[in-house]
Amino acid sequence: MRGKTPWFEGDVPAEMVPEKYRLAQAYVPKTRYLDPDFLKLELEKMFTRTWLMACRVEELPGVGCFVEHEIGSHSILIVREAKDSIRAYYNACRHRGTRLARGRGRVGSIICPFHGWRWNLDGSIRLVLDREEFVPRSDDDLGLVRVRAEQWGGFVFINMDPNAAPLLEYLDPIPRIFEPFQFQNMRYRWMKGVILPCNWKTALDGFLEAYHVAGTHPQLHRFDKSNTNIASLKELENRMWAPTTAYERHAHYSSVGQKKNTKSAGKDPSRRNTDGVIDERLSVALSVQYIADDMRGLENERSWRAAEALKTADVPEGMTAGQYFLQLYRGLSIAEGYDWPVITPQQWGEAGTAWNVFPNTILLPNQGSAFGYRARPNGPDPDSCLFEIFSLDQVPVADYDKKRDFQPQFFEDFREADLGEVFTQDLMNAKEVTVGMHSPSFDGHRLSEEQEMTIYNHHRVADRFLWT
Ligand code: FES
Ligand SMILES: [Fe+2]
Repeated sequence: MRGKTPWFEGDVPAEMVPEKYRLAQAYVPKTRYLDPDFLKLELEKMFTRTWLMACRVEELPGVGCFVEHEIGSHSILIVREAKDSIRAYYNACRHRGTRLARGRGRVGSIICPFHGWRWNLDGSIRLVLDREEFVPRSDDDLGLVRVRAEQWGGFVFINMDPNAAPLLEYLDPIPRIFEPFQFQNMRYRWMKGVILPCNWKTALDGFLEAYHVAGTHPQLHRFDKSNTNIASLKELENRMWAPTTAYERHAHYSSVGQKKNTKSAGKDPSRRNTDGVIDERLSVALSVQYIADDMRGLENERSWRAAEALKTADVPEGMTAGQYFLQLYRGLSIAEGYDWPVITPQQWGEAGTAWNVFPNTILLPNQGSAFGYRARPNGPDPDSCLFEIFSLDQVPVADYDKKRDFQPQFFEDFREADLGEVFTQDLMNAKEVTVGMHSPSFDGHRLSEEQEMTIYNHHRVADRFLWT
């Protein structure tokens, strides 16, 4: 029988939440970020019962390839046990608990580094040295303990709860809405992980709202006001950060209990707002190229070239520059062997800008390219997290089955990660927010009811796991 699925059950009654952690109207107490006991609870009750994005399928190209996924005090091994099968196990020896493997690699069998017990890739016990000297134990008892592993869109998600609802149910409606973006046909362009001196939620919060754009990214204002005709600030905000999805369940909580964000035009390039811009072609082209050059994701080398061609193109009568850009981008893509799924205006609208896969992943879909963010607690310290940004690109049809050797990059200090101007500005906030939150004068976040409810809703959904 399936266990509880708390995200379907609505808000938990306030009295079930200890007072020091209790949410109030558009208010989140700082204890939920700073208190080590709260992190302990998250690790015990939330991360153990939610589907977590652990890796991409492409990171396990051959049988025996493995990736270790650490989250707080948990360590899970994701292993390709057969050509078409990926499994996950707790990364702990059945003998005396030793961690079995670190990082990533490829093995023929899983061998404990301490006394050499050995397992087949399917988790069954293969060798116990001097087994006859032990109390008789069944092979079942000695097998590696499995963690659920399911796939969607080229991602491998894990769930430590054997009774959890299936991944596709958990993600609903993302699989339907993301279908035309074909995440399964994308591959990593890059992934950079950095240690940030902040709570894992603080790192995500910076990407859950666009309210910070005016304060954190003043250059976007400069572009807006200059004569370079770059797309309006609103346009850039919409394209990059504003979570627009209305959703009332776990996976994306942007609008749980709030009115729909009707302000965003979404990312549909054919519907870009060009109000007040003199040359519509430049507006579209420069906005695409700014993102392509600075952020190195969401746009790609083909959309950059299409934008370049647009600058001097004769846009046909009755067509907007955005529509013509898409036509150029499509032409290049098809000529170079890429699939070009049709995305209807309605589908663009539904996809919005950013989707939050509760608890710790954000995905930004776009045609041909996508961004993702993931934040994880870094051990038991609530003021430290591992934050990762990844850029995915669609690959040519001929390369769908091609194996690649991909290595994510890791930097202790984000300033050495060459993340571009916009991301660097975002990450600069992490430490300052944390230092300020520790001030005795500060009690909690006072959130905008229009622009920051995504942050609030994350906590509402979390409460459904933490207190049930
Ligand atoms: S702890 Fe693993 S074999 Fe002894
Ligand atoms: Fe930002």
